[in-house]
Amino acid sequence: MSEAYVHGYHPREKERLEDQAGTLVDLLHADTAYPHGSLVLEVGCGVGAQTVTLAQRSPNARFLSVDVSADSIAEATRRVDGAGLDNVGFQQADLFALPFAAESFDHVFVCFVLEHLSRPAAALAGLSRLLRPGGSITVIEGDHGSAYFYPDSPAAHAATQCLVTLQREAGGNALIGRQVYPLMVAAGFDAVRVSPRMVYVDSSRPDLVDGFTLKTFTAMIEGIREPAIGAGLIEPESFDVGVRDLRRTTEADGVFCYTFFKGVGEKRGRA
Ligand SMILES: C[S@@+](CC[C@H](N)C(=O)[O-])C[C@H]1O[C@@H](n2cnc3c(N)ncnc32)[C@H](O)[C@@H]1O
Repeated sequence: MSEAYVHGYHPREKERLEDQAGTLVDLLHADTAYPHGSLVLEVGCGVGAQTVTLAQRSPNARFLSVDVSADSIAEATRRVDGAGLDNVGFQQADLFALPFAAESFDHVFVCFVLEHLSRPAAALAGLSRLLRPGGSITVIEGDHGSAYFYPDSPAAHAATQCLVTLQREAGGNALIGRQVYPLMVAAGFDAVRVSPRMVYVDSSRPDLVDGFTLKTFTAMIEGIREPAIGAGLIEPESFDVGVRDLRRTTEADGVFCYTFFKGVGEKRGRA
């Protein structure tokens, strides 16, 4: 992989990606469906958390899912097999050196990957080459600057900012959601439409309190405790107060908001 992957590949991160995908299925994927017979390239599939949803929702499309991590591909293969799906193939590959012919895919799907790359624009341009004219690309990214909550807490923002800083130092961008539109346009895609997908959580939605606020966002911040302290970004006590305050938003009067950005565009040219 060309960049350090800030979240790592440990088992808790695998669970976090699964919780995130399970909780957000309708919000992110309700309008994702691929036609009968189409060939879809999923880039950076990780442990297959989105792959299962995509393949279940478009049973008559074929998916080729790639990731630079062999371990993640092995796990994704197990998950897809476990779900009884037979329309997904996997391949280990770096998205900057994909071994596929130009214009060989009808659609491309990229979720939570650009945020980890130092050259997201180059990545999109390379993926455009693999799309047939008239084919579509879907890009989904978060933006940690979109996290706000009640009770508000400077310590919680400071802990979140540690992840933004670590990701930037690793070559990525945890604030990339707001850039999905300009990146897709700069890569030459036509008819680009970006829709914000806001997760709003209060205690009347216990599934989101658990699946998103606790097990997705707070778990993600907790996961960078050691590197953030080790890099001297924050004192241990301050970090722990930040995490405590994120957890505080899951109480009866707490509220947590976060926005994902989903962009869809087309490759220029006739279908
Ligand atoms: C946050 S995970 C997202 C996984 C999955 N798309 C999801 O939504 O659950 C980012 C994934 O991108 C992969 N990745 C990062 N850089 C890559 C590269 N250069 N080529 C292929 N995959 C890459 C990582 O290995 C990791 O599995």
